[in-house]
Amino acid sequence: MSESAKLIYNNQTFELPIIIGTENEPAIDIRKLRDTTGLVTFDDGYKNTGATESQITFIDGEKGILHYRGYAIDELAEKAEFLEVAYLLIYGHLPNQAEYADWKNKMIRQSLVHEDVKKVFDAYPTGAHPMGQLMTMMSMMSSFYPNNQDPHNTEEDKNLTIARMMAKMPNLCAMMYKKRIGHPVMYPNNNLGYIENYLRMTFGNPCEDYQIDPVVVSAMNKLLILHADHEQNCSTSTVRMVGSAHTNLWATIASGISALWGPLHGGANQEVLEMLQDIKNSGNSPKEYVEKVKNKVAGVRLMGFGHRVYKNFDPRAKIIKKACDDILSKLGVNDPLLEIAKELEQIALSDSYFVERKLYPNVDFYSGIIYRALGYPNEMFTVLFALGRLPGWIAQWKEMIESKAPISRPRQIYTGATPRAYVEISKR
Ligand code: CMC
Repeated sequence: MSESAKLIYNNQTFELPIIIGTENEPAIDIRKLRDTTGLVTFDDGYKNTGATESQITFIDGEKGILHYRGYAIDELAEKAEFLEVAYLLIYGHLPNQAEYADWKNKMIRQSLVHEDVKKVFDAYPTGAHPMGQLMTMMSMMSSFYPNNQDPHNTEEDKNLTIARMMAKMPNLCAMMYKKRIGHPVMYPNNNLGYIENYLRMTFGNPCEDYQIDPVVVSAMNKLLILHADHEQNCSTSTVRMVGSAHTNLWATIASGISALWGPLHGGANQEVLEMLQDIKNSGNSPKEYVEKVKNKVAGVRLMGFGHRVYKNFDPRAKIIKKACDDILSKLGVNDPLLEIAKELEQIALSDSYFVERKLYPNVDFYSGIIYRALGYPNEMFTVLFALGRLPGWIAQWKEMIESKAPISRPRQIYTGATPRAYVEISKR
């Protein structure tokens, strides 16, 4: 592969170095472009811009490949535990037995949240969207640890903040659910694992023992692993950008949660379920809905379809579709929405509109049907995405801080008015 690219501009030739990633992805290094040529690049939405070097996640969108730190996603989803994958993403290697025992112990020791947090929940109107609450809770947590705000504190201090955040997240997510249904908050139980504890805090109540269903634990484990990282997506880029200003980790992750909430990103899982419910309630057929999408009626999109990077099957969607069938059958759930989803998928995959645009089901297309079968209301779906994505955000933030990344500050192409004189209000 060549080591440089040539740019001819104003009859001058400039050599631009080529950077090659470990999976042989070539990129033109334009860091000195403005100094040498006076040019900047233009790429709205960063469709073709590598904003960082990273050793965390590899995606080949054309081949439908996803690896975390070199491990294939299907193998991790099949064999690993979510906390192992979280450790892998954050610390770069799979934990050995001692490291894993210590990590799990930290998840137990740090799981309680300050009682004052409940007062903030109380201030929220009943029915408020849980993602709005999660954002607030996450940034508010920084107020409880004023001495651990500086991302350049000691390694020990940084690891403590990371452990606190990972350990408290299930508790915060469960509190949101309890607030929503008006039930008392459940405290974590130190004898339970991360996912078991989260399920108990969510679905258990103080009046009876909560029976842990291994089918539900295994489904949650798989879903959390599949959502754990996805390289430079909108929320992760937001985390890197906000963190590059050396903002504390809590506030930085809160910004990632805000980005994730959007319906084009993580919020799509809720939108998919609502779309399926609308199709069912309207009595229209999936085919009629697809026609509406193709006609671009009122901006209707087939939610859970399409991806910026995958131009082939999203490997996560393949795993989730299979898991969806397995889990629903193990739980004995017969959901008519699953049939609608399958029909929509079949129609779309053989329709030239979707084929030409390389639009395939993404991670959000079937995940909501599983969440629904597990008993979550639609509004909690994106919170579950955030619960899974947390280690990925932390890993990307850690890599960014440790590589001493410069503050993120893109340029622009100004297209506004050229200089003009101020006009007194009486003369306008
Ligand atoms: N339904 C109908 N048409 C679509 C869809 C869709 N879901 N997605 C893209 N298109 C069309 C779009 O209208 C455009 O058509 P045209 O060329 O005629 O203007 C073409 O495909 C390219 O779309 P784009 O919006 O330029 O593509 P993008 O890379 O900017 O957007 C996307 C990617 C994920 C935002 C988009 O596919 C979408 O809105 N999908 C639905 C929302 C969704 O499921 N989001 C979850 C993404 S995966 C989870 C995660 O966020 O990590």
